[in-house]
Amino acid sequence: MAGPHITVVDDASDLDRRAAALIASTIRSRPDASIVAATGSSPIGAYRLLARHARTGLDVGHVRVFQLDEYLGVGSGDDRSLFEWMMRDLVSPLGISRDRVVRLDASGHDPARACREYDGAVCAAGGFDLAILGLGLNGHLGFNEPPSDPTSATRVVRLSRESSESNRPYWGGRAVPDRAMTAGLSSLLAARRVIVVVRGASKRDILARTLREPPTPWVPASFLQQHADAHIVVDRAAWSERPRSD
Ligand code: GLP
Repeated sequence: MAGPHITVVDDASDLDRRAAALIASTIRSRPDASIVAATGSSPIGAYRLLARHARTGLDVGHVRVFQLDEYLGVGSGDDRSLFEWMMRDLVSPLGISRDRVVRLDASGHDPARACREYDGAVCAAGGFDLAILGLGLNGHLGFNEPPSDPTSATRVVRLSRESSESNRPYWGGRAVPDRAMTAGLSSLLAARRVIVVVRGASKRDILARTLREPPTPWVPASFLQQHADAHIVVDRAAWSERPRSD
């Protein structure tokens, strides 16, 4: 198996441009794509450029957007919620209507049921056409923390100390919840195309492990080595050897 397609770019604006172009071409070839989309700092610039593509002719009116992950107990309307972040930085700028968004609702009293409903909606959509992901410092995808089995369903997880620490800046110094909900690794790995945006020197070691270690639940992203259409767009700061392509 060839492994993920790697695009190494020089800087942040290149990263945004390449990632946005790849997302746009995926939508062009599949205008009704079901897309699961990460928040986090890595894909934000690409989303901004994608909105520009949408203003200049890219038709996004038929895509469906699925939330990737959420902190447990955080409701909509809370500015810390990843749902609000996704709406603010992706859904609203693209002009996608709310009824084409599938929320991962972590605010209710029965999160296990919300997870089952979410997986039901993914299944009803025929699976994800596209997963736009970031890479956690510990190799997580969404909040599929190590160890995560590649068959894991959408579920409630306990966050690792690394994930709590790396998300602290987004909480303005307030305590990060210790549990979260995440789309299962199983449905992410089954996405017909996966695009992972990797930015900055802090990701260099985990990206090297993701690509070079034999796939292991201890580095959940390493299962992307077995994916037929995975694209990793990475800036030079996060890349630790000569590019294999592009
Ligand atoms: C966070 C989120 C992921 C995100 C990843 C990388 O903890 N759970 O959805 O993709 O970690 O975030 P960033 O792009 O800010 O480094």
